[in-house]
Amino acid sequence: MKTYAAKMSRRSLDNIMFRLICICLTLFSCCRETAQQEIELEEHERYQDIFPLTQSNFTTEVLDSEEAWIVIFHTGTFTMEWKKMAVALRGVVWVGMIDRREEKDLLQTLGYDMVKTPVARVYHSGHTGSDKRWTDVDSPLDARLHACNSVPDTLATVDDAGLQDFIYQSYASTPTRFPTVIITDEQPSCMLRAMANRYYAFFSFRTMINPSDKDLAIFGQPFKDFELPTIAVLVSKTKDKTDSMTFEAVLYNEDMMGNVNYVNLVKFLFAVNKQYRHTLPGESMAGKRGIVEMRDLLEVEKKRFQVNFLPPVQKAKKEGGLKFTTKVVKDEF
Ligand SMILES: *[C@@H]1O[C@H](CO)[C@@H](O)[C@H](O)[C@H]1NC(C)=O
Repeated sequence: MKTYAAKMSRRSLDNIMFRLICICLTLFSCCRETAQQEIELEEHERYQDIFPLTQSNFTTEVLDSEEAWIVIFHTGTFTMEWKKMAVALRGVVWVGMIDRREEKDLLQTLGYDMVKTPVARVYHSGHTGSDKRWTDVDSPLDARLHACNSVPDTLATVDDAGLQDFIYQSYASTPTRFPTVIITDEQPSCMLRAMANRYYAFFSFRTMINPSDKDLAIFGQPFKDFELPTIAVLVSKTKDKTDSMTFEAVLYNEDMMGNVNYVNLVKFLFAVNKQYRHTLPGESMAGKRGIVEMRDLLEVEKKRFQVNFLPPVQKAKKEGGLKFTTKVVKDEF
């Protein structure tokens, strides 16, 4: 009897062990699943603000780029102020870092001053190659000033009288560009200039700085209703090139799209291009996916932040009044 009981308890022990193993296996596979599951990154985790630079990619990334770069020289750490500067300039200029302990050859190539050991160097926008202009700086504030000042200002202004010419010009290019008005109460910031320079092939930008009520009347909405700066992309209601075209404005909406910053503005431009390119007259090239997705620009921006989760963009509701008509002469096309 005793052996029988022992056998039984042995059996139930086996049984328990078997169950335990099963539970463990289930837990394990379930945990593995969670680990493999794609999780959505927190907003701040989606950004790369400071890029490591090495001997092997310094030339292609910095010297061959037409854009401004702030390069921080470090020995493993740098102060929070530099990190904050990089976040504040997110997308506007590029920020990189060189590890002084690892990149001795690169430092020599760059003519880095081993005595003064400047904290950072600003490579100016606009030049490329070994003669790309640079300035050594010691503070994040100086770095920011030099980098921003070097971003060229290609933004011309427009008023209600010039609007029609501006629209013709935008429609005459290939691919057709969206006539886009940046409405601000001060000279366009470094961020707006950088955006206008990068997206010029798809959007034709003009500014209205402290516009008069008459200028703004084209948007049919009183000045006080705008949070400045804002962006209005003009889209035509019909594609037909009739002698009278009606336009509506797709307006950057802070309530829906968040604060006006580079990342949000760029998402807005991607969304507008995707949603409204087919409505453009002329050579809209709306049949080409690379154009509708602005793929070349997407590849560049994706290094720094995610451009998925595009915001929904809408033409202002008719009741909102953002609607105006302008005469367009047929022969112009
Ligand atoms: C340069 O190369 C380093 C090392 O491979 C890499 O971590 C870094 O992201 C690269 N920099 C850029 C701007 O692509």
